[in-house]
Amino acid sequence: MSDWVSIDGEIMPASAGRVPIYDRGFLYGDSVFETLRTYSGKVHAMGRHLARLRSSASRIAMELQISEGELEEQIAALLKMRPDEDSYLRLIVSRGDGEFGLAPDLATTQRVVLMARPLPQRDEGFWRQGVAAISLTEPGHRRGEAVAKTGNYLTNLLALDQARRAGAHEALRFDASGQLTEGSTSNVFLLRNGRLYTPDLSAGVLPGITRQLLIEVANTIGHEISECPVPRNWVVEAEELMISSTLRECVAVVSLDKKTIGEGRPGAVCLALHAAYKEHCLGQS
Ligand SMILES: Cc1ncc(COP(=O)(O)O)c(C=O)c1O
Repeated sequence: MSDWVSIDGEIMPASAGRVPIYDRGFLYGDSVFETLRTYSGKVHAMGRHLARLRSSASRIAMELQISEGELEEQIAALLKMRPDEDSYLRLIVSRGDGEFGLAPDLATTQRVVLMARPLPQRDEGFWRQGVAAISLTEPGHRRGEAVAKTGNYLTNLLALDQARRAGAHEALRFDASGQLTEGSTSNVFLLRNGRLYTPDLSAGVLPGITRQLLIEVANTIGHEISECPVPRNWVVEAEELMISSTLRECVAVVSLDKKTIGEGRPGAVCLALHAAYKEHCLGQS
């Protein structure tokens, strides 16, 4: 058995996991979540993920009832069920259930769900070849909006759907004024005139844990990543383009809307950044 869940601290095979239909996460997406992973069995950047979970919760007027220490204990207990291989971990805290109705104060006790499963398998070719992306304009996207990682992921899901229908791996999203925001489940970086850039957080992007770590490790390869507004033409004309997320780490985008980016293969800076990031992650484990 490889997939396990923990519901409010009770561990069971994923196939046996059940959540009541009145759970507000199910009814309204009224929940916050984190996607984590292990390297050599150790949860990567746990403190940063738990801090973001708390901050996402406070942005939806939900004060986490569970402490970081208790969450760490539940995660450790669940991972004991999967001692032999690295895990994908999903941590969800829903506002819970209570009397039926939309008002959040109807909820009583928050529900904590953890899932541990095998990491999606990707061979080295994924990073060596890079991925294709499409661009999408989202007129509703407003700059300056603080982004929480909540169970309401429909906009992201629909962006990814468009990418997949076009045979691409990711959708790079732009706001109404033509500024780059983020991918459906990733942050975006580009190389322009030899310098690295990523949209600043006020673009309304998720403060990705990988994004922040890449900003920190970039200096080990002699680069600094500037956070600033990124206009569309910078993306189209990028010497290198890349996306980042916990599971994909950092991977090159080699075409956008079927047009080649840079030389159409992962560039030297992206490969060096990925290597430095990977070394950092393995060093932490
Ligand atoms: C919208 C969005 N942006 C960025 C990311 C990357 O975040 P992280 O590096 O913390 O995985 C994700 C990950 O799921 C995401 O959903």
